[in-house]
Amino acid sequence: IVLEAERQVATDQAAQAARCALALRSLARGRAMAIAMGRAASSRKLPEEDVIDRASRLISQIAPGADGLPPIALDEVSAGLLDARFDVVETEAHLVLHGERALMQGARTLLGRPTSCVGRDWELGALTGILDECIDEPEARVVVMTAAAGMGKSRLATELVGRAQQRGVAIWLGRGDSLRAGSTLDLLAQALRGALGIAGGEPLAERHARLRARVAEHVPAAERKRVTEFLGELIGAPLSGEGEASAALRAARQDAQLMSEQMLKAWMDFLSAETSAHPVLLVLEDLHWGDFGTVRFIDTALRDRGERPWMVLALARPELFEVFPKLWAERQNVQEIRLKELGRKAGERLVRQVLGDGVGGETLDHLVKQADGNAFYLEELIRAAAEGKDRTLPETVLAMVETRLARLEIEARRVLRAAAVFGEVCWDGGVAALLGNTMSAVTVGEWLARLVEQEVLAERPDGRHAGQRELAFRHSLLREGAYATLTPDDRRLGHRLAGEWAGIRRARRAITCAHRSRRFTSSTSMPRWPAPTSAWAARRRPSSGSRCSACAVWPRPRACT
Ligand SMILES: Nc1ncnc2c1ncn2[C@@H]1O[C@H](COP(=O)(O)OP(=O)(O)O)[C@@H](O)[C@H]1O
Ligand SMILES: [Mg+2]
Repeated sequence: IVLEAERQVATDQAAQAARCALALRSLARGRAMAIAMGRAASSRKLPEEDVIDRASRLISQIAPGADGLPPIALDEVSAGLLDARFDVVETEAHLVLHGERALMQGARTLLGRPTSCVGRDWELGALTGILDECIDEPEARVVVMTAAAGMGKSRLATELVGRAQQRGVAIWLGRGDSLRAGSTLDLLAQALRGALGIAGGEPLAERHARLRARVAEHVPAAERKRVTEFLGELIGAPLSGEGEASAALRAARQDAQLMSEQMLKAWMDFLSAETSAHPVLLVLEDLHWGDFGTVRFIDTALRDRGERPWMVLALARPELFEVFPKLWAERQNVQEIRLKELGRKAGERLVRQVLGDGVGGETLDHLVKQADGNAFYLEELIRAAAEGKDRTLPETVLAMVETRLARLEIEARRVLRAAAVFGEVCWDGGVAALLGNTMSAVTVGEWLARLVEQEVLAERPDGRHAGQRELAFRHSLLREGAYATLTPDDRRLGHRLAGEWAGIRRARRAITCAHRSRRFTSSTSMPRWPAPTSAWAARRRPSSGSRCSACAVWPRPRACT
């Protein structure tokens, strides 16, 4: 099975592949499975042979699982991209996926060791303080924490959950999923199933029995039947026999509006009952894939159950507010935390924790700088450094960077790939030269300006080439990510053209100098622009009238039109 996902974050792709394999396990009739991840040229349907070979090798080598279930082997890339909720066991020869846990079980280990949380004292202090206030007052509180993938949102939630559990707080967890994004009340249903001790795979009768028993614990007797019936509808454990159903349930089943109102009431009553017995921390992971139903039910509970000890910790990527622009905007008790990058010192602490105090200053510096404050990148870079590969970018990080690049417009990516050929620094004329007839120099300039706006590139004053705008990648990871998406042919060609362009610039500089010293007399001796034999140019439709940036200052060469 090939899963293809151009714009998805690599960790999400890995999670999806893992879930797919786990779901197929019951159908596999004992046959082994393997997950391998890699890149493919967008023009090809299948990934590189290398990925397929890796997967076949894993399948042929893995031994049958002791529990009778077919084993699922992981290659290093997919294992590196899976987070702590996946139960991955490292045997002597293999990495094996055992399952997915409902609740976060601590953090991912790094080189077999757990790491302590670094550089998040303020955030953790703020979260703990809010939870304390919510319990002591008591009052409902909400924290919405946003940051890009890998920045450490889930890790902070895990740390808070640990502290909350010590205070006797019940943890309810709902997790957004890209495949189920937007399905009605999905997140809340997950959280409630967890609270009710229902895993989801049980037979209906058992699910219902658990629901009934749990509701009976704290919900007043007079409300129990109604709350059980409508919570059952909400969480996917409906009462089956029509005969047993109350008139209210039968009526609601005929009327979606009525059903929604009754489910809302049941949720609020259950929340009241539970919070009268103990505080509740509701963690909503990846809320950017959440649903309006969950957001609305929580909103109503914040309004009408605001004096209860319950806290919502919603974690999401920054696009959350594109999906829910007015998220709980009318409620007073909502705080937003934008998680910033890990600081340099915190990064160094993490490196030392894993690689030991003997790690060289240069390595330390390189790792922390490369990671750019992203905890996931740093972990993966540390892992690579421990294997002696500290100068090559791990595939896992590359995959994450590529997905960031994949969000840019196709033209921006094309410009960035050409820019990456020059290294960390490029020039507008050089990029235009590489793109030949596929894009006019003016358009290249516009895209470069866009990339500066988007903080991918930064303009540098006093560039090396006179009359050329000099631009630097803001982060070397982005450059490496862009460069990695070039095919070997494009790379070869790109370097040749870049070399020619730079050679011409050098020659021109020499001529200009000579001219200034009055030794230069004729413009006919100026070097000529290379002909566009380039596949970069030839592969794409030539646009008539496109102009090489050099033309502005050079005699217009034949090749540039
Ligand atoms: N402050 C931190 N200290 C140590 N490790 C961290 C820290 N923040 C994150 N990590 C680790 O980095 C990886 C990515 O973090 P995670 O919380 O999953 O990111 P996110 O949820 O934002 O995508 C995890 O393995 C996590 O344990
Ligand atoms: Mg996370």
